[in-house]
Amino acid sequence: MGVFEIAVMGGDGIGPEVTAEAVRALHAVGKRFGHTFTLREALVGQAAIDVEGAAISEQTMALCQQVDAVLFGAVGGTGVGDPNSKTEPMYSLFRLRKDLELFANVRPVRPLSALLGASTLKRATLRNVDMLVVRELTGGLYYGTPSEIRQGPDGASAVDTMTYTEAEIERIARYAFELARDRRKHVTSVDKANVLSCSRLWRRVVDRVHGDYPDITLRHMLVDACSMALIRNPREFDVVVTENLFGDILTDEASMLTGSLGMLPSASLGARRTKHGQFGLFEPIHGSAPDIAGQGKANPLAAILTVGLLLRYSLGLKRAAATVERAVRQVVTAGYRTADIAAAGEATVSTHAMGDAVVANILGD
Ligand code: IPM
Ligand code: MG
Repeated sequence: MGVFEIAVMGGDGIGPEVTAEAVRALHAVGKRFGHTFTLREALVGQAAIDVEGAAISEQTMALCQQVDAVLFGAVGGTGVGDPNSKTEPMYSLFRLRKDLELFANVRPVRPLSALLGASTLKRATLRNVDMLVVRELTGGLYYGTPSEIRQGPDGASAVDTMTYTEAEIERIARYAFELARDRRKHVTSVDKANVLSCSRLWRRVVDRVHGDYPDITLRHMLVDACSMALIRNPREFDVVVTENLFGDILTDEASMLTGSLGMLPSASLGARRTKHGQFGLFEPIHGSAPDIAGQGKANPLAAILTVGLLLRYSLGLKRAAATVERAVRQVVTAGYRTADIAAAGEATVSTHAMGDAVVANILGD
């Protein structure tokens, strides 16, 4: 029985709705296993800009440094502003990732058997798919400078910068090899070494680090070939490690194996340890989906699955994590569907009703 402190930031769009269901699942776990979760709520994104004048306040940043984990919804709206501006919602996410040194973004992709029909891919392709994408999260094009649009005499031009240091590549590679040790011991490292210098350094460093992991098999794959292999034969992947932007793109693609972007959780982890495990920020990968916000249509299962990751990685509560994951599996098997995972003509439930079903399952009623 433990006492844990968690910062909760629902953010924008559907973020607050799905996070509310995730919090209910967390409290259900607390009740079932006798743990106390002390929640510290904070504003982030547009919600924080409106009230506090910045996408994330210094107090909220300080709060994140103290807690055992951060449960995060989504930020942003329909606009595409400059993420370097404090009054752009996305700034909060980039600041959190960088300042909290959350360099490893772990995205498990495991289609549920009951949802194989929800994917546009064939059932036979999806059966027994179980991969873990490890996306580098604090380097590459997301953080390189310069990054700007320039006005010149002949019109505008734009520049973005991709940089990686050897140390940045080494730590993410090590992270991936360590995770592979507890799995099927196979790592696919994804790059674009036939074009990019960053990728050539990436390959060299991954090969060197691999020397310390003789029990793990490693293959390199170009990102274009990987995007094809991901849907041709997804079973061939165990751990996939890649740089920031490739990981962003490949995981949206991989989410289609599970039937919906609304099914994929993620854990952003770094080097900081807490009393119970590894500090992390946990968020569904789907984003704020402003078009369906406030309508009770959003699928809360990705957010609820992030609670599973939070329990496992940051709080060291493996049994509780397994309980949440089983609950999600069982409600889906029992036929509960939000619109994104429903087949044509199948009845759907609201965000809250899906949360109810998960909570009831966790509590065992
Ligand atoms: C993700 C998202 C973010 C990213 C956006 C919202 C900036 O797509 O976490 O995958 O690109 O990292
Ligand atoms: Mg993304």
